[in-house]
Amino acid sequence: MMRSLLLPLLMTLASPLQAEQRCSTEIRSSDQMTYDKSEIRAPRSCASFTLTLVHPGTLPREVMGHNWVLSRAGDLQSIAADGSRGGPEHDYLEPGDSRVLATTRLIAGGERDSVTFETARLIAHQDYRLFCSVPFHATLMQGRLLITE
Ligand code: CO
Repeated sequence: MMRSLLLPLLMTLASPLQAEQRCSTEIRSSDQMTYDKSEIRAPRSCASFTLTLVHPGTLPREVMGHNWVLSRAGDLQSIAADGSRGGPEHDYLEPGDSRVLATTRLIAGGERDSVTFETARLIAHQDYRLFCSVPFHATLMQGRLLITE
């Protein structure tokens, strides 16, 4: 028992870079309204996971801004609908929306933003979605977040 608990800890200490990469990732958006990933795996054992949204495009945020929002699959449509009323000044999200589990800022081309969220609070095998809440973007800019053990 002791050995099985200690071994992962020792491996983590031996390779801090590997652990860091496992508990963080980057997703790239574009001026073509895309994300470069449709699935992100976040191990629960990370405790916290950091997502960095990169926008290598050149368009301003009012024209082709993007964010990265995490929610349960069933909340996606209503979050996007309520967020559309908030406009870009509220990052296309209803302020204080408790259905939003994590979100970056709405960023313009040339910008990046990171968000760190607690994976320990999320449930393995639950259907979580990642999406951009700018009106109509979630049609193309949507994927799954898998919490792995
Ligand atoms: Co977008």
